[in-house]
Amino acid sequence: MSRSAHPAGPRHGDVLPEGHYLAPPSDLNALDPKVWSRTVARDASGVATVGGITVTALAAEFGTPAYVVDEADFRARARAWHRAFGAEGVAADVYYAGKAFLSKAVVRWLQEEGLSLDVCSPGELAVALAGGMPPERIALHGNNKSVAELEQAVKAGVGHIVVDSTAEIGRLAEIAERQGVRQPVLIRVTVGVEAHTHEFIATAHEDQKFGFSLAQGSAARAVRDVLARPGLELRGLHSHIGSQIFDTAAFEVAAHRVVALLAEIRDEYGVELPEIDLGGGLGIAYTSEDDPREPAEIATALAEIVRRECAAKRLATPRLSVEPGRAIVGPTAFTLYQVGTVKPLPGLRTYVSVDGGMSDNIRTALYDADYSVALVSRTSEAEPMLVRVVGKHCESGDIVVRDAFLPADLTPGDLIAVPATGAYCRSMASNYNHALRPPVLAVAQGTARVIVRRETEEDLLRLDIG
Ligand SMILES: Cc1ncc(COP(=O)(O)O)c(C=O)c1O
Repeated sequence: MSRSAHPAGPRHGDVLPEGHYLAPPSDLNALDPKVWSRTVARDASGVATVGGITVTALAAEFGTPAYVVDEADFRARARAWHRAFGAEGVAADVYYAGKAFLSKAVVRWLQEEGLSLDVCSPGELAVALAGGMPPERIALHGNNKSVAELEQAVKAGVGHIVVDSTAEIGRLAEIAERQGVRQPVLIRVTVGVEAHTHEFIATAHEDQKFGFSLAQGSAARAVRDVLARPGLELRGLHSHIGSQIFDTAAFEVAAHRVVALLAEIRDEYGVELPEIDLGGGLGIAYTSEDDPREPAEIATALAEIVRRECAAKRLATPRLSVEPGRAIVGPTAFTLYQVGTVKPLPGLRTYVSVDGGMSDNIRTALYDADYSVALVSRTSEAEPMLVRVVGKHCESGDIVVRDAFLPADLTPGDLIAVPATGAYCRSMASNYNHALRPPVLAVAQGTARVIVRRETEEDLLRLDIG
């Protein structure tokens, strides 16, 4: 489904109240493999299944709302990234971005599939270590890492720390020197490129909190400061340019600028840094309109860009890292909801209220994100009905799916599911209205298990000490 200006004037039943045209899908019962995880299908009776288990069985055993992760799909995507960039592809490391979604089970899967891990808070570091990720395969990010956090990371033996400010360089150097270690670091540079979805802008965008500006010379000063500290080992440069990116044009501009700094460093200090990290941000299909590229294609393109840029500056090609989060976990999960109310607003649309909302998926309210939705507890031959899927919170902006079609016979008690909610949904979930954050269920080969349990009122009350 796509939202666009209607090419030929309004058509009954498929025009949004705002005057935009939204075409209903040709088959409301279809579960497009582009947006649903790989083992999702419908059984003979029309109930959706994942990993061989029906959603009705999942709802009966674990309740709703629930995030359902397709473990085989997660592992397959992680493996595809690792193969494309590392094992069988270019000399490169894949750091899964834990901010997208992290739990001990996920850490175990990543480790078993050969990936490394990017964390950006002490909490994420704690989960990474508790899940058994070897510390040397962890990279720590963050624009305001405290002394205590840096101490903890250095003590744990974290493989890379991506330094983000002058203050941090001083803090980290002192800690490393005090602990008698030489901490490998990357310098996060702001390349003046910002990319989101299909567009990128390669001027301005210096005006943000992350990294050291290339254009203003602070990146070059950070290099000087790091090289001057015996406790720090400068391994390379890091750049992250945005999110939900579908092509490599913006990475090309970023790589060009990062490699130019590598050449300046060689010319000034006589050192060729061995690593470059181009960050994450690769896009996924949230709706059938999105066309993400395969990891192998991205790996080939990025490696070629870096090779070409380095050759132009007569530099040896450094080891390349990437940090995909969304592109690995995003498509592997859906959120399962039960319909509570169906409220038609004649001439406008029908509001479908579910038993979750902005507390389990803030992305629609925060970024106007697009999602799709399907009736999963049965099929239906009823006409398509234009719906807005909303939650149960005290905000009119509590929207899960802004515009979509569901069958007109939808009734309270039906189960609906929103696909592609693996990234930045559970990890951004809140307790707004004292909502209990939903569990994360991992489903594989006919078994489901809870990998993050549902919160309880006792969990909420435990923190409230009166
Ligand atoms: C430094 C860094 N690396 C990686 C990522 C992961 O991005 P994505 O999940 O879009 O791949 C982010 C996201 O904000 C980031 O800030």
